[in-house]
Amino acid sequence: MRVGILGSGRLGTPLGRLLAVAGHEVCFSDADPARAAAAAAECGGQARHGSPVEAVRFGEVVVMAVWWEAFPAVVEQLGGALAGKIVIDPSNPITERDGAATAVAVPDGLTSPQYQQNVLGPNVRLVRTFNTKYPNELLELGTAGQRGGTRADMPYWGDDDAAKKAVVPLIEAAGFTAIDGGGLSDAL
Ligand SMILES: NC(=O)c1ccc[n+]([C@@H]2O[C@H](COP(=O)([O-])OP(=O)(O)OC[C@H]3O[C@@H](n4cnc5c(N)ncnc54)[C@H](OP(=O)(O)O)[C@@H]3O)[C@@H](O)[C@H]2O)c1
Repeated sequence: MRVGILGSGRLGTPLGRLLAVAGHEVCFSDADPARAAAAAAECGGQARHGSPVEAVRFGEVVVMAVWWEAFPAVVEQLGGALAGKIVIDPSNPITERDGAATAVAVPDGLTSPQYQQNVLGPNVRLVRTFNTKYPNELLELGTAGQRGGTRADMPYWGDDDAAKKAVVPLIEAAGFTAIDGGGLSDAL
């Protein structure tokens, strides 16, 4: 499957790497093109890099590996390119201050991915997953699973059943056991 990664930082880079190692076609992008190029290089030449719009156009599935607060800016920057796409949302409403992580309340009593679905718009097919592991944990557990070791569980949530079904092989390829957590209203 072709996967576009938006944000080649702490989460996007190891996640893209796990998917590339498993044989998926991955295109990294970032606000800083050099960071996207470095992420692709880390995969040993099995991945490509491009601008955010190029990564979105490339991907059958797109991963929003940018900060929770950055979603509106990304939507504006992409100018409608996400329409109809299956989008993985790993974003958590957390800000970092003085080295401590502080949870931010999601407005209107929504779950985080319900809020992000509203930001992205109704024509984006959002699947919530890969939000429950720290990047080093993700890489270690995923690599162990890919190599035939014990597989860790990876929950996923969504309101679009076909989109959820399309994302399951990516979760499995990344080395995890995909666990259906239900709809976005049930999501962590
Ligand atoms: N790190 C974790 O432990 C963890 C765990 C689970 C889930 N998550 C979630 O994963 C998401 C990414 O977290 P992270 O830790 O990987 O953050 P990060 O290391 O800061 O990476 C995010 C990257 O996205 C880039 N970016 C910002 N705006 C962009 C845009 N408009 N287009 C393209 N790229 C853009 C950033 O560039 P600049 O720095 O230049 O802005 C940065 O390189 C967050 O929503 C977070 O909640 C993180």
